[in-house]
Order: sequence, then structure tokens, then C-alpha cells
Amino acid sequence: MNKKLISIAAAGALLIGLAGCASGTDAGSGGDASGPKPVDELVVGFAQVGAESGWRTANTKDIQAAFADADIDLKFSDAQQKQENQIKAIRSYIQQGVDYIAFSPVVETGWDAVLNEAKAAGIPVVLTDRAVDSKDDSLYVTFLGSDFIEEGKKAGDWVVEEFADADKVNIVQLEGTTGAAPAIDRAEGFAEVIGADDKFEIVASQTGDFTRAGGKQVMEAMLKSNPDIDLVYAHNDDMGLGAIEAIEAAGLVPGEDIKIVTVDAVKDGMQALADGKINFIVECSPLLGKQLVDVITTLNDGGTVEKRIVTEETTFTQEQAIEALPTRQY
Ligand code: AHR
Repeated sequence: MNKKLISIAAAGALLIGLAGCASGTDAGSGGDASGPKPVDELVVGFAQVGAESGWRTANTKDIQAAFADADIDLKFSDAQQKQENQIKAIRSYIQQGVDYIAFSPVVETGWDAVLNEAKAAGIPVVLTDRAVDSKDDSLYVTFLGSDFIEEGKKAGDWVVEEFADADKVNIVQLEGTTGAAPAIDRAEGFAEVIGADDKFEIVASQTGDFTRAGGKQVMEAMLKSNPDIDLVYAHNDDMGLGAIEAIEAAGLVPGEDIKIVTVDAVKDGMQALADGKINFIVECSPLLGKQLVDVITTLNDGGTVEKRIVTEETTFTQEQAIEALPTRQY
């Protein structure tokens, strides 16, 4: 489908989702008995993961721009990929008495205590991008972001098709941050698809922490201990770009001697795809700012939102990347 049409379809889906939610029965909270607060008096605390990847930088810019456009005061903190920093930031937002807290959890587990503190303070929490693993889903209003399992499956589907005629395929996996939802789910979705045929073997799998430097370092080690790698599955573009550097340094041709599939579709990744160094990218959109503002203003107006809002995404081949690059936003 044409990229412009996909964006329009995605925007339409969100509007329908939010409109549907206003009369829906899913949990939601916000506003108060005295009615909505004027938007320019709202204060939102956002606890970001860090600045580990091109995706994250684009996500931060998009969120900050969307709140500035909506004239909502956004307090922003960067946890430098450390859960304890994110917990500190959330506690500080609770102390400051913000109206809403939004955050993208570094890892899935270990949030119940601080989220219970937010709940006790009556501050609604919105999860963006990544989920938490908690039995108590009353601790957050909604989770807005991608379906990471589906992303892993899309990567796996491409691999199955690409290697349809091969007898044996040796795969190395560059995992995202250990314990993070996208690392867990992208591995799971991928394994489910390739697991249907035992010619596919993950010969090595290690975390590169979603960074380019991490991807390069891990790939260097994998190249040394695995002489016959057919495919790199990197959980994000940045690690795939790091792997390209390691593969070239080893005298091999990325995209030819070793095929590469990644997730994200940030500009640098798309350029590498257009250049034939990456072979396929599964999109994960960082443009969550407008949707987050819509969720908060809906709650402020006394409306409810769906418990899960899934971001619409596509995939890119080399030809599609060449077509999309000139107008790519991030
Ligand atoms: O949670 C989204 C993931 O986090 C992106 O795929 C990755 O690039 C980022 O660091």
C-alpha cells in the first residue's frame, strides 16, 4: 500500500479508536468532579527510557513537539536505560503532583510498588511504547504502542520466504535490552515463525542493548565464534547498523554474504536498506506524541480510552525504502 495511504489509515484508526472509547467500558480515569482542566493548565510527567537509539531520539522529539503544539506543560526525564532512574523520576512526578504520568518502561517487571504510589496519589499513568508485566492492570490507564510479537513474526515471515530454497540457515540474533518488552516479544514472535522448520537454527543470541556500539561488539564476537552465519536478526536498526560495521571489518559483504533483517525503519536503517546492506526492515513507529496527547485530553475531558491502543505499522523491502526515504520523517 502507498505510504501516504498507510499514514492516513493509521490516523483514521486512532480517531475511531478514541471515539469508540468515549462510550466504551474499558478502564480509564482522568478529569475530576469539577470538570476538565484547561489544557494549558495540565502538567504531564514523562519518564523516557534514554537515548539509546535513533528510534528513541525520534520518539523523544515527537513527544516533546506534540505536547508543545497542544500547549501542555511536559516535564521530561531521561533514565539513561536504568530502571532505578525511571522509578526516581516517577516518584518525583508524584511529589510534584502532576496531572498525568506517562512512561516507557526500560524493563517489563518491577513496577508495582511505584505504580501503586501513583494510584494512591490519584495520578493516572499511561504506558507508551513498552508494556509492564503486572497482574494488576488497574495500575495504568492504557498501553499505547506497537505489537512487538507481531513485529518478530513479520521478521520471521520474511526469513522463511527469503530462505525458502535453503537446506540449512544459521541465524544470529542481536537482542534488545535484557528484560525489555521489545526484546522479549520480538524474540518470541520470530522464534514462533522460524520454529516451524528445523532447518532454521539460532546459533547465537546475545544482547546489544539496542545500541549501535553494542550491536557491533556482539557481532564481532559472533563472527569469531560462528564461521558460517547466513542471517542476522537484529531487534533494532541501530544494532543492525553496528553489525554491518563488524561484518565489513571482517571482510564480508553485509546484505550479500550475510543477510540482515532489523526492526524500526529509522532513516539510517532505511538508507542501509536502500543501499542493500540491510535486506528487510519491520517498521516500529516512534511517532506516539499526538496519540499520547489525544489520550490525555480525552481523559481530561472525562472520557475513557481503550486499555490497549496498537500502533499501525508496515514493513519495507529495498524498493519500498528507496521510495519512502525522501519523505521519511525520522
Ligand atoms: O521500545 C522500542 C525499541 O526501543 C526500539 O525498537 C528500539 O530502537 C528502542 O531502543
